Amino acid sequence: MTDDWADTLREQKTYYDARAGEYDDFWFRRGTYALDEPVLSQWNADAADTMTLISGAARGDVLELACGTGIFTDVLRRHAESVHAVDASPAMLELNRARTAGAANVSYGQADLFDWRPARRYDLVFFGFWLSHVPDDRFEAFWAMVRDCLAPGGQVIFVDSAPYPADEVTGPNSQVSARTEERTLGDGRRFRIVKRYWDPRTLSDQLTATGWDAQVQASEHALMLVGRARLSEAARPERR
Ligand SMILES: C[S@@+](CC[C@H](N)C(=O)[O-])C[C@H]1O[C@@H](n2cnc3c(N)ncnc32)[C@H](O)[C@@H]1O
Repeated sequence: MTDDWADTLREQKTYYDARAGEYDDFWFRRGTYALDEPVLSQWNADAADTMTLISGAARGDVLELACGTGIFTDVLRRHAESVHAVDASPAMLELNRARTAGAANVSYGQADLFDWRPARRYDLVFFGFWLSHVPDDRFEAFWAMVRDCLAPGGQVIFVDSAPYPADEVTGPNSQVSARTEERTLGDGRRFRIVKRYWDPRTLSDQLTATGWDAQVQASEHALMLVGRARLSEAARPERR
């Protein structure tokens, strides 16, 4: 494992900016992301459950990190007082703005999340398919930043990738650390990204060790990872 992810993180940002126009194919399972039955129906069911969870949790002021094209922003903003959506990619942000169609309760920020600091606190911090792109040696700093985003009583919800087939989590391809993976765009350009498919138990334990009360589990059909976290009592700001 390399200790220096700087080059890969730069390439990861470039990749997602270049992929913005193709990105939704992943969530809607089109083109190279298409799935055969019965997995397609399972994915759709897990996706619907995820949206139900997010709709139910979106209250008050919400911060969405790595918001992408707005697949989740558009759900959050329908239930929350306000949503502040942050992403490094201008192209992603432009598509997100178009999707939320100028909703008055959504604001945007373009920033690198590894440098960014919040200007205020939020009732909910949400990130979708982002944590798996955070290198291990930036995990603690990332979660410390998330802690500084939370209002008293606030919570974090995240959704992320699960390897398919799901038994790879515990099988021979099980990951114990982040690795570099290669991604190819429709036009053939190739990029390196950071990827870690977390095992729910390992992630839960790591969050507990970092001061969170966390529940991380696989979605019903094990096609996604879903997590909720609140600061443990000892880590709450009033105790610091
Ligand atoms: C896998 S996509 C997830 C997008 C969105 N959350 C979703 O699930 O539809 C990862 C997102 O992270 C953004 N990103 C990559 N590196 C970043 C960085 N260093 N700081 C902020 N955003 C970054 C990309 O532009 C992209 O929108």
